[in-house]
Amino acid sequence: MPKEDKYTAEKIIEITTWASNLFSFKLTRYAGYRFVAGQFSRLGIKKDDGTIVWRAYSIVSASYDEHLEYFSIVVPDGEFTSRLSQLKIGDEVLVEKMNYGLLTTARFEEGKDLWMLATGTGLAPFISVLYELETWDNYENIILVYSVRETKELAYMEIIEGLKDHEYFGEFSHKFRFLPVVTREKFEGALDKRIPVLLESGELEKKIDLSLDPERSRIMICGNPQMVDDTRTWFTDHGYSVSRRSKPGHLALENLW
Ligand SMILES: Cc1cc2nc3c(=O)[nH]c(=O)nc-3n(C[C@H](O)[C@H](O)[C@H](O)COP(=O)(O)OP(=O)(O)OC[C@H]3O[C@@H](n4cnc5c(N)ncnc54)[C@H](O)[C@@H]3O)c2cc1C
Ligand SMILES: NC(=O)c1ccc[n+]([C@@H]2O[C@H](COP(=O)([O-])OP(=O)(O)OC[C@H]3O[C@@H](n4cnc5c(N)ncnc54)[C@H](OP(=O)(O)O)[C@@H]3O)[C@@H](O)[C@H]2O)c1
Repeated sequence: MPKEDKYTAEKIIEITTWASNLFSFKLTRYAGYRFVAGQFSRLGIKKDDGTIVWRAYSIVSASYDEHLEYFSIVVPDGEFTSRLSQLKIGDEVLVEKMNYGLLTTARFEEGKDLWMLATGTGLAPFISVLYELETWDNYENIILVYSVRETKELAYMEIIEGLKDHEYFGEFSHKFRFLPVVTREKFEGALDKRIPVLLESGELEKKIDLSLDPERSRIMICGNPQMVDDTRTWFTDHGYSVSRRSKPGHLALENLW
């Protein structure tokens, strides 16, 4: 557990409910808090007995925003989220001063197409990546694939679809392709099979209208650990490698549990 000078106490300033099991919240931001898009924070909540429960949370907001935003699941009886989901505006959440994580575009060299593949709250870091001007400058094509069980769990749709009219990024909207995947019901415009199945059948490339190619494609994967594993396996079987600190590759991965 971090010592007291290793974290700051921030206040909740906004809460958005997406579905019964999904919500987002904004916190005040300590002026010295620094992170790179794609990274995560460690958040803490004080329990009644005075101890603190800590969990990792990907940052949704942009590195230049004055606040910090996070997107959360509610796990029934989850030690952290059963408490977090009860908090109100003005309540306190602790934020470790340290930033974490390697799910950043800095892991890649020379790619032309950035593919971001998410399940569930694994969307969070990709919103932050999409808020960076550098992302739009550095890639010719930017693809976001977002898989959820049911349509009502498709969060941040207005933000994603609003990118085309965004004051900074709108001029790059021709570069952006978004594919929702809804696996347990039909939704117009969405595909309905799991990401690795869509990769194997070629349906994903067909729907996006862009070919995957190790020369051009750089792939970020975030969400359900089994999805991350299965998707990574598909890519490594097809000539892609995971980026390492000493050796940049094609893939950057993050498991949410
Ligand atoms: C690097 C990293 C980044 C993360 N970012 C986020 C984030 O942005 N948003 C978020 O909601 N969670 C995120 N998590 C998960 C988060 O740390 C907690 O696990 C989550 O808040 C649940 O905490 P809990 O104590 O209520 O349940 P836990 O005891 O931590 O988890 C219980 C079970 O709930 C399920 N579960 C946990 N997290 C999720 C999830 N996000 N989606 C679906 N099922 C889940 C798993 O089956 C897990 O075993 C992240 C985890 C890591 C390692
Ligand atoms: N209370 C509620 O209303 C409610 C609703 C939903 C979820 N939950 C709970 O929340 C937890 C997580 O739910 P979640 O929906 O965020 O996460 P999830 O189970 O990871 O599902 C999110 C998306 O990931 C897909 N997926 C799962 N495993 C995959 C794999 N191995 N490869 C590729 N894709 C995969 C799912 O497809 P599939 O549909 O094919 O699995 C779905 O499209 C679960 O424990 C669940 O019980 C509760």
